[in-house]
Amino acid sequence: MILKIECLTKRFGGIHAVKDCSLEIEREKITAIIGPNGSGKTTLFNLISKLLKSNDGHIHFNGKNITKLKDYEISKSGISRTFQDVRLFRNLTIKDHLEISLSNSDESIFKSLFKDKPNNAERIDRILKLVHLKKPLNTLVTDLSYGQRKLLDLAMAIAKPHSLLLLDEPVAGVNPVLREEIKEIIKNLNKNKGTILLIEHDMNFVMDLADYIFVMDAGKIIAHGEPAEIQSNKKVLEAYLGD
Ligand SMILES: Nc1ncnc2c1ncn2[C@@H]1O[C@H](COP(=O)(O)OP(=O)(O)OP(=O)(O)O)[C@@H](O)[C@H]1O
Ligand SMILES: [Mg+2]
Repeated sequence: MILKIECLTKRFGGIHAVKDCSLEIEREKITAIIGPNGSGKTTLFNLISKLLKSNDGHIHFNGKNITKLKDYEISKSGISRTFQDVRLFRNLTIKDHLEISLSNSDESIFKSLFKDKPNNAERIDRILKLVHLKKPLNTLVTDLSYGQRKLLDLAMAIAKPHSLLLLDEPVAGVNPVLREEIKEIIKNLNKNKGTILLIEHDMNFVMDLADYIFVMDAGKIIAHGEPAEIQSNKKVLEAYLGD
């Protein structure tokens, strides 16, 4: 187990965005979190990466209690993430972005990718190949399409040294061709011993990719299991269809 969350709770005023949430994530697996809009998925990621402070509960990562760490300490401890609303710098290039991610990185989870200790230029080249981003390095973010920005955001998360990758809706709003490409990229990362926790609404994507699924509704985990179990779970169907 790489990540263990116990009874995590986050309130915004009267809203329980995350309520008594407990889950365990296995190493070298692809785990998905699904659930209706507003069910607390992104808040859970924000609590793990410490953009938000929890009201209650504990988080253990790689056997250590990380509940009280600051956001930069979480990142240093090896949790890397992407954002639902892709966050890039308008006036910087692809190369600038990846250099920011690679700075202070002297090791990587993807040891197979970097085992010959390549320099930064070579690392950038390999990461861009891994995410199939085929644009010149000096391309500004403003000259990238929405899909290419999603790929750059993913490339940045991969470039940071990490042992757990959190992806918040990696295929939201992308076209079907790119969606299949991103699916292959994630499978490939996992084949290289990557551990991935992803949030996604696209059910076909989740069912194809995930080894294990947690379902959230109104801040709580209402079901968890392998894709086949989840697809036939009554509580899950109710959460999606309303009762
Ligand atoms: N910073 C915040 N301040 C106040 N309320 C918030 C904040 N962030 C989230 N919420 C509320 O917490 C609840 C959970 O939101 P969250 O973004 O985690 O849901 P989600 O499952 O990621 O939804 P979606 O699938 O639409 O992305 C919602 O009711 C939301 O309005
Ligand atoms: Mg969200």
